[in-house]
Amino acid sequence: MDAKKAAAEKAVAKIQEGMIVGLGSGSTASQAIRALGARVREGLKIKAVATSLKSEYLALEYGIPVFDPGEFTSLDIDIDGADEVDEKGNLVKGGGGSLLREKVIAFASKRFFVVVDDSKLVQTLGRFALPVEVIPFAAQLTFHQLAALGCDAAFRKSEEGQNFVTDNGNYIIDCKFGPISDPAWLDVKIKMIPGVIETGLFSNKVVTAVFVGYPDGRVREISINP
Ligand code: 5RP
Repeated sequence: MDAKKAAAEKAVAKIQEGMIVGLGSGSTASQAIRALGARVREGLKIKAVATSLKSEYLALEYGIPVFDPGEFTSLDIDIDGADEVDEKGNLVKGGGGSLLREKVIAFASKRFFVVVDDSKLVQTLGRFALPVEVIPFAAQLTFHQLAALGCDAAFRKSEEGQNFVTDNGNYIIDCKFGPISDPAWLDVKIKMIPGVIETGLFSNKVVTAVFVGYPDGRVREISINP
């Protein structure tokens, strides 16, 4: 079985009748959306909130009722992927450019399950360039402020070679810092730069558990905040 699918299915099994569910973004989160769609078809009643337009369209295609997040004060469960997960459960997200909505929904959820294949596990974050969402106004100035923190920064580009634009109308600057020894400190430092909206660093404080899928179909559950 596909490692991503195996991890996604384990997390979806945690969803119960009547819950408000956050739908993550990316290929692993999409597997979770498909697995949830199958349960909805079997009669499970839930309400969902999507972290990207792509996930919203996929959910609707699979018959999952999607609501505006403003209708709720909190969510019961959020299931999302990650680009990197360290030993303590800190994450880098935003490879698909949905980090801002993903972070809002993860923080508003009582339980946050991360679904990854084993290639995403690292000792220390920093193998993957850290995505930072910035407003388009004076983005070049924000870029220089980020680079001054000591990273190798690059505007993310679309297939057409233009600046990639997020669902929120912003740009992404991918920042290669090398090993990130103190994710919480770096997150604060970056967010102090005017023009930065959000970073792809997710603290382990919001993570309930990480489900790691392996190519043979096994899934390891790493409990972070039970
Ligand atoms: C999107 C994300 C994704 O969850 C992350 O990029 C992982 O994606 P995939 O499951 O396709 O590897 O953060 O913004």
